[in-house]
Amino acid sequence: MNIAVIGAQWGDEGKGKIVDLLTRHVSVVARYQGGHNAGHTVNVGDAQFILHLLPSGILHPDVRCVIGNGVVVDPDALFAEIDTLAGQGIDVGDRLLISDKAHVILPYHRELEVLAEARRGDRKIGTTSRGIGPSYEDKVARRGIRIADLGDGSEGGPLAAAIRENVSARNRAVGGAEADWRVVHAEARAVWDRLARWVGDASLFLARAMEEGACVLFEGAQGTMLDIDHGTYPFVTSSNGTVGGICTGLGVGPRAIGGVLGIVKAYTTRVGEGPLPTELHGSMGDQLRESGREYGASTGRPRRCGWYDAVVVRYAVRVNGLDAVAVTKLDVLDALDEIPICTGYRYNGELLTEFPSNAAVLAACEPVYETLPGWSSPTAGVRRYEDLPPEARTYLDRIEAVSGVPIAIVSTGADRAETIVVRDGFIDRWRADAGVPVS
Ligand code: GDP
Ligand code: IMO
Ligand code: MG
Repeated sequence: MNIAVIGAQWGDEGKGKIVDLLTRHVSVVARYQGGHNAGHTVNVGDAQFILHLLPSGILHPDVRCVIGNGVVVDPDALFAEIDTLAGQGIDVGDRLLISDKAHVILPYHRELEVLAEARRGDRKIGTTSRGIGPSYEDKVARRGIRIADLGDGSEGGPLAAAIRENVSARNRAVGGAEADWRVVHAEARAVWDRLARWVGDASLFLARAMEEGACVLFEGAQGTMLDIDHGTYPFVTSSNGTVGGICTGLGVGPRAIGGVLGIVKAYTTRVGEGPLPTELHGSMGDQLRESGREYGASTGRPRRCGWYDAVVVRYAVRVNGLDAVAVTKLDVLDALDEIPICTGYRYNGELLTEFPSNAAVLAACEPVYETLPGWSSPTAGVRRYEDLPPEARTYLDRIEAVSGVPIAIVSTGADRAETIVVRDGFIDRWRADAGVPVS
């Protein structure tokens, strides 16, 4: 039984840690969307790994990793990541497969993104400046360059023609010193020698692996509220991080997705611009940011912090069909005397219990809170549910009830070991179905 791991808030929920934890039970980990805008942190003992484009499963030596057609790949960023991992003792070797249909990010995509953000002025999105959006724009406009195209070595072939056209559009848009398409073309062709060994048909590979009994983990990037269709548009990324992205971004059928695990923080964060209904602006926001070390794993930007928002998580449960959630960073709340949970929004004197699609309605919403007591002793590093203080268990019970989804995992620290797998819950059932003995 394959499993999907999906961010149920605005990204950075701790997906990397949970993917790493579950990778012990699978043989393939596949990314289906996004690019190196993602930053997935995995802490193992004293070592810290931050994965951007490579699936987090790459840290496990027997696991094969797939970058699907739905991902946008910056070859320079990919090579840099592979080299960084090699420096940390992780050899990618032949364990990586990149879909020949994935689209490429070239330097002009990054330039166009900087320009687009500047033009938006105070309506800017606060993107990661990685060229993600412009690469997806080219894909949808049917002028994009795919990984397989980089293998076209001919001087006047389709790759040269596409780059010539795209660079000329870049020159018209950016102004100033013109980029020379021949240089861009030569650089794009030059990456092929190193890249070629990893390129292939990812959909076919997955189909064959599944036929042979491989268990696959689908690793989502970003989060439900950053999804291009279901997120807080236009303050979103340019791909579908929600569950549907798995089928389109890897070329697998819906029945390949055996179970869907959402990842939620015990509170809420967001990087970049856009609505965040439970945002804390004062010292409490600063306290959460400092105790949770809420600074972006990709860009280092401070994350905006707020209370747990059950309206958002209920929405994520609906659009992804979540079977269960993993609640991370419970320990970050350890020092608080009381902890509010947002259970609904007040709009024009009415109580809203569903996340509104309309940005103007959302902007006028006030969160409705119920407040729970903090806990008497710390949860940091606790590994057994029964060892959690009673108030922490009450907090989790309440999150479960108001979010309408069972909790399968509780994370009490960044390390792999600082985790509670809830007994007889979704993960144990999944492990049993996947043929992994449940200890
Ligand atoms: P991702 O993008 O969803 O993989 O999440 P990030 O790696 O961007 O951000 C999550 C951060 O929280 C990382 O620094 C993790 O090491 C850290 N983290 C994950 N789980 C826990 C936890 O339970 N407690 C604490 N204190 N930190 C955690
Ligand atoms: P992981 O996988 C948090 C945000 C950016 C910006 C918006 C659009 O680590 O959870 P983009 O560069 O994608 O066009 O930026 O999306 N964003 C993320 N925020 N975690 C991420 O990934 C993100 N990837 C993009 O901050 O607001
Ligand atoms: Mg992240």
